[in-house]
Amino acid sequence: MTSSGNPAEPTPNEQIAILKRQLREAQKLTALGELVSTTTHEFNNVLTTIINYAKIGMRHKDAATRDKAFEKILAGGRRCARITNGILGLARNRSESLEPTDLVPLIEDSLVLLEREMSKYRIRVDKQFHDVPLVLACGNQIQQVLINLLINARQAMPNGGVVILRTALDEATGMVDLTVRDTGKGIPQEQLGHIFDRFFTTKRGPDASGKGGTGLGLAMCRDIVQSHQGRIRVESTVGKGTAFTLKLPVAKTPAPTAPPLTLPTLGVQAQAGNQA
Ligand SMILES: Nc1ncnc2c1ncn2[C@@H]1O[C@H](COP(=O)(O)OP(=O)(O)O)[C@@H](O)[C@H]1O
Ligand SMILES: [Mg+2]
Repeated sequence: MTSSGNPAEPTPNEQIAILKRQLREAQKLTALGELVSTTTHEFNNVLTTIINYAKIGMRHKDAATRDKAFEKILAGGRRCARITNGILGLARNRSESLEPTDLVPLIEDSLVLLEREMSKYRIRVDKQFHDVPLVLACGNQIQQVLINLLINARQAMPNGGVVILRTALDEATGMVDLTVRDTGKGIPQEQLGHIFDRFFTTKRGPDASGKGGTGLGLAMCRDIVQSHQGRIRVESTVGKGTAFTLKLPVAKTPAPTAPPLTLPTLGVQAQAGNQA
């Protein structure tokens, strides 16, 4: 092993790696803990709907009412499944490897978990999804980043507002941009340089729903984005709002292996994937 003498003793670098892994695990548990009360309420709401429609269906024997009741029960059941899947997706120790990933389902899964909270604070979610290539990402981790950004956005708009979620391809860098923009209170210039520091917070502790106040959210976002060879940018205007943009690398599709196709009899050369 190394010069530490005791082969069982981890080197300082190994210790740092172990501590980083433990920190990430702790951050994940914190994020999950923060979501538990929100999603349990949401789950309960949907269950109430399901139970009520089941009662209606049992009371009314006519086909039309029963059909409608079944539809509502089915929709509610599906919603419950999405909520539990969202939580399980975060909790599960999925592979930490980077894989070609579609951002839209990740965004939708994150929103399901926060929908109730957003409507409680009168926050409208505006989705502006453009056609973008798959990114090379660990879905689990990007979902953690998104949830953190969405919770921060919500907390910056105590009296309601709009969250814009936007995906777009940045032609200049060839990366995919995922932007979370809010119409909240903004970040003063002198704080902007510190918001990604571990333990930097302007909150007095967890809010009424048990979220925030640790100063760990953005530090974790930055760590995750960096491990994706990506970048995270912030723009903010006090009184107007804040936008965080993740820049993520595109998952390169494997180069076509077939040799270039020539069709001499027709005098035409096939062009691969270059249609407008
Ligand atoms: N969308 C936002 N609008 C305004 N301020 C923000 C926003 N996101 C982050 N901040 C500021 O950055 C600080 C650090 O955020 P974060 O690391 O998530 O920790 P916490 O949310 O626990 O305070 C927050 O306390 C807040 O001052
Ligand atoms: Mg936060």
